[in-house]
Amino acid sequence: MASVRTTGAFVAAISMSMVLFSYFLCTYRSKRKTPFSLSKYKNPRNGLVHAVGNTPLIRINSLSEATGCEILGKCEFLNPGGSVKDRVAVKIIEEALESGQLVCGGVVTEGSAGSTAISLATVAPAYGCKCHVVIPDDAAIEKSQILEALGATVERVRPVSITHRDHYVNTARRRALEANELASKSKKSEQIDGKFSEQIDCCMSDGEKKGSIFSSYCNGGFFADQFENLANFRAHYQGTGPEIWEQSGGRLDSFVAAAGTGGTVAGISSFLQEKNPNIKCFLIDPPGSGLFNKVTRGVMYTKEEAEGKRLKNPFDTITEGIGINRLTQNFKMAKLDGAYRGTDKEAVEMSRYLLKNDGLFLGSSSAMNCVGAVRVAQSLGPGHTIVTILCDSGMRHLSKFYDAQYLSEHGLTPTATGLEFLGI
Ligand SMILES: Cc1ncc(COP(=O)(O)O)c(C=O)c1O
Repeated sequence: MASVRTTGAFVAAISMSMVLFSYFLCTYRSKRKTPFSLSKYKNPRNGLVHAVGNTPLIRINSLSEATGCEILGKCEFLNPGGSVKDRVAVKIIEEALESGQLVCGGVVTEGSAGSTAISLATVAPAYGCKCHVVIPDDAAIEKSQILEALGATVERVRPVSITHRDHYVNTARRRALEANELASKSKKSEQIDGKFSEQIDCCMSDGEKKGSIFSSYCNGGFFADQFENLANFRAHYQGTGPEIWEQSGGRLDSFVAAAGTGGTVAGISSFLQEKNPNIKCFLIDPPGSGLFNKVTRGVMYTKEEAEGKRLKNPFDTITEGIGINRLTQNFKMAKLDGAYRGTDKEAVEMSRYLLKNDGLFLGSSSAMNCVGAVRVAQSLGPGHTIVTILCDSGMRHLSKFYDAQYLSEHGLTPTATGLEFLGI
């Protein structure tokens, strides 16, 4: 009798567990079928694009203690593509998609040897787009290797003046037009008899056939144009500026940064000064750039210095991505109270000082921005809060800015033990 009862209980337990098992299996399967819902989780961001921005604002302890000011750095190097330019890439692509100038499957073109190209190549696939980058052939080979690894097509061209039709920026603009022509030809051919691919091939020039973006079907092109496209300004006016305002609780006295396209300094200074006109915004300008003159004296350069007059690229500065000798649409939007000049030696020394004292491994423009922050602290005096941008990390600057031999060849070997290079 006892054994019959035991067997019955055993069978009941088995059946019960089978029922439970099938219930959990079905629930699991049906849950798998439902789309991923972020609301169940506390903080995950929706894909790569939503991981751009909202970077931390940190107190740079060593500089704050040395100056008696609160010096805060916006950690843009923590963006997924490694720099402040991720924001610009996202904004340029989103605005172009919204306006219909770019469509899914289209190609974004840019002439850039730096961070913007890497950011565009990083985010373009998230929008179903491709990226074609034109770079000067004297740019470090790692740049094209990174871009190609990211899936972008890269065209290396002879370095010539911006006034030349084959300057890399002008070539990138032309490539977008060519991609558009190609797309409209393919649409027409498709309408005629559906055999569009053979016909496109017949219509293509040798140049078109050579560029790998044109070797397969493409859905038109869009020239990102980071220097003149005000989506760049808006990325900072609507994103970085408001974040700085919120993260500092609106308690800041000054903002300082260097400019390349001018988008960062223009977007942030415009936003902050609208919020509080007493916030003083400054430019820090590297050697070889005409912006210091423009801000302080209203003139950009002497006739000899005009960018179109240069026959070759002189060695202006070790810093990358900052300094320019023409006035861009983005920079024109800046609201600046003044400007400082920074030297290469100061930027190199600053980078080593921050590495030693704060563990911050920063790129050359970030180091220059920190030089600017100390200059502002010195002129405002202790007790002020100054914000700057930490644009990218030192990782992309190993072959020059962090290379001992390169620095020694250019007389830039760091020697400081503290901040004596800035008179502290
Ligand atoms: C690393 C880096 N920092 C700073 C800048 C300057 O920013 P903006 O172009 O917004 O003036 C650039 C521009 O390309 C850059 O690549």
